[in-house]
Amino acid sequence: MINNESSSIVILGASGNLALTKLLPSLYILFTSGALPHNFVISGYSRTSMSNSEYRKLVKDNLKNNIDETLWVEGFLQEFLNTIHYYSGEYNSVEDFIEFHKVLDSISKNFPSQPNVLYYLSIPPSVFEPVINSLRECGAVTKGDLSTSVIVEKPFGYDTESAQALGKTLDQTFDESQVYRIDHYLGKEAIMNLMVMRFANLIFEPVWNRNYIDSVTVAWEEDKNIGSRGGYFDGAGIIRDVIQNHLLQILALVAMEKPSSYDSESIMSEKNKAVKSIEKITLENCILGQYTHGVCAGKPVVGYIDEESVPSDSKRETFAKIKCAINNYRWSGVPFYLQAGKALTKSTTEIIIQFKEVPGDIFLSPHHPNKMVIEVQPDAGLKFFITNKVPGKGMVLKDVALDFSYVDGFNKTMPGAYERLLLDAIQGDKTLFIGYEELIHSWEIFTPILEKIDSGKADVFYYHAGTYGPEEANRI
Ligand SMILES: NC(=O)c1ccc[n+]([C@@H]2O[C@H](COP(=O)([O-])OP(=O)(O)OC[C@H]3O[C@@H](n4cnc5c(N)ncnc54)[C@H](OP(=O)(O)O)[C@@H]3O)[C@@H](O)[C@H]2O)c1
Repeated sequence: MINNESSSIVILGASGNLALTKLLPSLYILFTSGALPHNFVISGYSRTSMSNSEYRKLVKDNLKNNIDETLWVEGFLQEFLNTIHYYSGEYNSVEDFIEFHKVLDSISKNFPSQPNVLYYLSIPPSVFEPVINSLRECGAVTKGDLSTSVIVEKPFGYDTESAQALGKTLDQTFDESQVYRIDHYLGKEAIMNLMVMRFANLIFEPVWNRNYIDSVTVAWEEDKNIGSRGGYFDGAGIIRDVIQNHLLQILALVAMEKPSSYDSESIMSEKNKAVKSIEKITLENCILGQYTHGVCAGKPVVGYIDEESVPSDSKRETFAKIKCAINNYRWSGVPFYLQAGKALTKSTTEIIIQFKEVPGDIFLSPHHPNKMVIEVQPDAGLKFFITNKVPGKGMVLKDVALDFSYVDGFNKTMPGAYERLLLDAIQGDKTLFIGYEELIHSWEIFTPILEKIDSGKADVFYYHAGTYGPEEANRI
């Protein structure tokens, strides 16, 4: 049962980058806004040996660099740091986990009720299994008991088989109802607004189908090169890193049918159906690229294979454009393009809904069909391009954008995705998390091409860093 009075969050991998730069700053912001339960404790667990006060200092230093300075309130800060406890131990040691839980119990013994415990696996996938086994064997978790739950970070496997293996490992200890698979894109305001835009406004539903929409593009671009992250990236590539998860989740929200109600079960079910209707990708519908030397964000960069952390013969894709087909009544014949690339011109994520041309056009002046651009990041917003008459003599037409920016429209800064998702998980709301079935379907779509790419059987086209990607991408 979810207990909103007392709560405990345990970060496994507490010494790491994600914990220090994203999770703890998000918890601090939730804390300062009074969103966390009154009795709240944060415990960090990892192997690095540190005292409580050393860890609190590390958290404090990282908070400074990762929150807006207006949120830096000394009183709040000290109170927040007092809720944090650190324990160092091995991930595969049941004894260490038993001792850690004794400490946890002693911290929360004065709470008015037994706290819910949320375990956050902020560790590399290689450690998932020992940690999950230790949690079970130390007696901290009982399968099916909702007072304990777990958040799992991507990557959720490497292909269909490894995702199923991870599913099995989780299933030995947790019921699916206790598992929160996080994709932080789902916590972004513009993404959460997709459902509101589609289902709380009358004007979109009648045109949201193959009769009116020509194509949908979900595009993710980054103007950074790989640098020192090649060790991880070269084993994964852009399809696993961005497309199979973030972009596919966005596609599912654009394509899904209206859920019967706004609850996690109905939403997950509709997203799952949309993902299940996507046809398996073939290499013919996929253009891969790799960057060579160029200039990114004003700085010269070396080519991908010349990065120190990358093997010099790597054929790993740093860019991919994939044409997906959804085999259902609403979307048959409408291409959905998923495109992502590193070392491009800028860092953005956007969804482009391209409408069809007006039939029987009567105007001689050239003009374009309507287009809607949903901007996800860096600034959340929505631009709707409509055709207008240019004032003055004659009949000259021009596309003009109706431009909505979240920050201007609501006059407030956007909450971070981790804030939203952490709070949802603490409150037991699974709406914005990924279900197991949907995850496996999403791997089944990409695994056939990933196997070919991994074995070097796919063509890779080259593009200079700081450009729009390989020219061949226009082919599909
Ligand atoms: N950072 C992000 O923004 C981000 C975004 C999306 C997903 N993720 C995922 O979130 C997880 C954590 O990310 P992170 O960036 O915090 O990772 P990290 O810094 O590499 O690792 C987190 C902690 O895990 C422990 N660890 C690292 N490598 C280990 C190994 N080989 N064996 C045992 N323990 C090891 C280390 O703690 P000790 O040595 O002290 O035990 C480390 O501080 C990863 O699965 C990552 O893929 C991260």
